[in-house]
This record gives sequence, C-alpha cells and structure tokens, in this order.
Amino acid sequence: MLLIDPTSVPHLAERYPNAPGRLRHHLTTEPLLGYAALAEAARALPRQHIERRIHNAGNGETFRLIEDDAHPAEAIAAGGAESQWIMLRYIEQLPTYRALLERLLAELAPATGAVCDIKGFVFISAPCTHTPFHFDAEYNILFQIAGDKVFAAYPPEPPFVDLARREAYHCSGENMLEWRPDFAAAGQQHLLAPGDALFVPYAAPHWVHAGDNPSISLSVTWQCRKSRAVADALTLNPLLRRVGLPAYDPVAQPGAPWLRAAASRVGQRIGLL
Ligand SMILES: [Fe+2]
Repeated sequence: MLLIDPTSVPHLAERYPNAPGRLRHHLTTEPLLGYAALAEAARALPRQHIERRIHNAGNGETFRLIEDDAHPAEAIAAGGAESQWIMLRYIEQLPTYRALLERLLAELAPATGAVCDIKGFVFISAPCTHTPFHFDAEYNILFQIAGDKVFAAYPPEPPFVDLARREAYHCSGENMLEWRPDFAAAGQQHLLAPGDALFVPYAAPHWVHAGDNPSISLSVTWQCRKSRAVADALTLNPLLRRVGLPAYDPVAQPGAPWLRAAASRVGQRIGLL
C-alpha cells in the first residue's frame, strides 16, 4: 500500500523546494506511529534523544526543557503527557522506523530528486502545545497522525530570519527566532488534521500550535547537495569577514555556493573553522 496519496506528489513537485506544499498521506493507521509502538521506541532510543519541553511557551520565548527522572515511555504509552511536549529525536536509528522513512522518501522522489541525511522526529504534544517561532536548517515534511495542528510558515528571509541568525545556527545550533507582533499576520497558516502533511522549505521560519486534543506528528527531514553547500558556505562567513572578504548571503545569492562550500570543507578539515 502507498503511504502518500499519489496525487500529492505532482502537487509537491510544483512547489518544491521553495514554497510550502500540502500533501495527503495514509500513515494514521501505521502501527509504528501509535502510542504503544512509540513508547517502545522511546525505550529503545538513547535517553538523550528524548526531549520534554514546556507546552505553553509563546513566540519569542524560551522553549524550556523539562528535567524529569521518570522515563517518558510511561507517559507516551498512556497517550502523552498532560502538559508537555515530548520529542523522539533521530528515530531513523531504529531499523523499522528507518525503513518507514525510506519508503516515504522513495514515494516522494519524483518531486524531491536525490536526498541525503534522512532524519526522523516524532512529536507527542499535549493539547494546545505551542512550539515557538524558530527555523530548522533542513527540508521537512510534517505528517499529522493524531489531533490537529496549525502550522504557520514564513519565507526564509528578513525580517523573519536574517543572515546573522542563519550563521549562528551553524556555530551553536541555536534556532529560536525573535518575534514581533506584526509577524502574526504575515505567516501562511495551515490547519493540519490527521491524514494531512505539509512540506516546509529549507530554513523557513515557523511556529506550530496543537489543537484541543493530544497530537502525534512525524517529521521527516533531509538535505540535498545544495543545502549542504549552503550550510558549509555559511560556516565560512565569520572567517571571510575577519580577512575582509565578502560574506555569503543565501537570500542575495540564491545559486548554490559550490566554491565557498569547497573552501569551507578544506578549512574544516585543517581545523581553521
Ligand atoms: Fe521546526
């Protein structure tokens, strides 16, 4: 059986890689994405790859981690924690989930072309969980499995995310963004119900708000040759500035920065970066 509605693939191809695009999928009955299997997955994953965060952070606020000695698997088996957001990170480490992600991306290949660095995340959200405004340096499709979510996507450019934030991400991993009240009306809001999915372009800022019921979402992310080159070129920028050379800006120079990326990889190899 196909995992993605085949009519969604040409629709994605029209929008990929620069515009958000909706898809329909058949994962809502997938046993691997039910609470029982996810609790088992939580037990199998390294503990540091399961995160719990507060459910009520606003945009521009810290999405604070919750430290708790109890293993999150128990809360997951019971249908999710009452007022927490739980993330299973890098589920591709588990062979059955790896196979599921690869099946998904094989069905999407006519739209995406060759992809690499496939990663999977499962978000188990308490009702009304708000994921504050942030960006991720990867391509992403969020598959809604249970409950509803509003996903607000923004263009990957100023004023929503600037060059300094994008460079900082590659140095520190920090991906939260400042919020201004006038951004509220600027996002493209998508209501995602079970069976819906949304493609999110590389580095597109977003916030997410879960509805009144517990929510399960699967996020599948990947890189391509160009996105790897962009990441390497951004990593080179601080050194270029120090020696008075122009920095790379992916908004001003939308082509792939192959030469800068190659120089960056040499710099990383010899310990300059
Ligand atoms: Fe995100």
